[in-house]
Amino acid sequence: MKTIAPSTLVIFGAAGNLARIKLIPALYRLEVAQRLPEEMLILSVSTEARSREVWIDAVGEMLKAKYPEGLDAPAFARFCQRLHYHGNPPDDLTAYDRLKTLIDGSGKFPPNVVFYMAVPPSMFPGIVDRLGDVGLLKQTMGTRRVVIEKPFGYDLLSAQSLQKGLTRHLDEQQIFRIDHYLGKGTVQNVMVFRFANILLEPLWNRHYIDHVQITHSESLGVDGRAGYYNEAGALRDMIQSHLLQLLTLVAMEPPVSMAAEHLRDEKVKVLKAIRPIPQNAVHAHAFRAQYTSGVIDGKPVPGYLEERGVSADSTTETYAALKVFVDNWRWSGVPFYLRTGKRMAEGSSAICIRFRNPPQDLLRQSRHDHSHPNWIMLGIQPNDCLKMEIQVKEPGLELHTRTLSLDATYRKQDDADYDAYEGLLLDALDGDHSLFLRYDEVEWAWRVVDPVLKVWAMEREFINNYAAGSWGPRGTYRLFDREDQFWRHSLDVSGADLQAY
Ligand code: BG6
Repeated sequence: MKTIAPSTLVIFGAAGNLARIKLIPALYRLEVAQRLPEEMLILSVSTEARSREVWIDAVGEMLKAKYPEGLDAPAFARFCQRLHYHGNPPDDLTAYDRLKTLIDGSGKFPPNVVFYMAVPPSMFPGIVDRLGDVGLLKQTMGTRRVVIEKPFGYDLLSAQSLQKGLTRHLDEQQIFRIDHYLGKGTVQNVMVFRFANILLEPLWNRHYIDHVQITHSESLGVDGRAGYYNEAGALRDMIQSHLLQLLTLVAMEPPVSMAAEHLRDEKVKVLKAIRPIPQNAVHAHAFRAQYTSGVIDGKPVPGYLEERGVSADSTTETYAALKVFVDNWRWSGVPFYLRTGKRMAEGSSAICIRFRNPPQDLLRQSRHDHSHPNWIMLGIQPNDCLKMEIQVKEPGLELHTRTLSLDATYRKQDDADYDAYEGLLLDALDGDHSLFLRYDEVEWAWRVVDPVLKVWAMEREFINNYAAGSWGPRGTYRLFDREDQFWRHSLDVSGADLQAY
């Protein structure tokens, strides 16, 4: 277990959505599990002036809303002891000086400080500038780190200029670019699965793998985030960050060690090896669509254009699919298909790896239908699981084959279940960068999607659509290299042949 030095966590945007739904609950759960360092204070910063008492009441309400079954009273009492509040009205020119005096001058706050930017992306460069200007980012009294949420920029150019701004005040070791997907248990399990087992290594390459597909689907819509989402769209929101990160974990070479820099060196090599998509080939590599009204869980739901905050002529994609090739020795010629969508039939995330067919189909006569290749599937959510599909003989006198799923689901009923943010917050307090993105990773990920974004930005008159509650638009099938490739929607054998329609 990590021993973390006494620290101060400063949360900017403490009254916002991210803090309310993710950060404060995650910190409370760490308190319950007694994982927060004994000497740690949480200083919440928001634009409204509030007293500490009023803030503690507000946190109590947030937590009660999240855990209606009730709070752990002793843990909550301990948690409240840590909570402090600083009002930072935008028009108060002294706010940052007061913050500096509070943190560095009051003697109350441990001098190792993590500043968490739980604010809209447009705001954090300004906040970092002000923190830098008042001297709060100088590491004279203790370490000073900044955690930045995605999206890191809007495209390649804006990411570069954002980085330039940050480096005026911070060095790379002080910056923690969060991709909360890397905090998910199964995502880390991709590395354990690959590097703690020798079994698969000989097969993990172009000779045996037909293609890889990575899916993140959601049945939810934009959920009150239309302002952000309508600017971003699915490709920026999910593929540039989370799904490309998953791809790097599947495709990377074994690192020299699990140390942060070694891991990140290998991940960035994968991103660099992704074949650039020329603008005139975007349509062969990418597909976008938007949901129309439909039915989810038996209830009618509106289309994207009817969502509050979305303009009636928006062509923002709520579904994006991308085919990329990793042009290196291991993966040459193997397509990686990535897709994500809102308001789809189910909310689920998985990595599905399809193997090639055996070189000779010796058992063709003994099957009722077409051949079934092997699959390895890593389910990320809702249930983390690991499955492998193989062919076996059906019991009986005939030599008939059947697909069997070896289910290596490793979660036991009483295993601890942590949210991604819990581990990542501890890592940031501890200064461990392994699960955070280095700048070159972000930049190379933008290089992958940038040509697609450019073409889509020019083609603003038309977008394909799909009914809410479906598995997405049919046209997405044109991305597949061959007719026997199809999106896998279910990790169950019975669902293996389920194609989109
Ligand atoms: C966020 C995206 O980064 O990830 C959201 O901005 C998306 O649009 C979310 O819904 C998905 O993450 P999770 O952990 O809720 O599956």
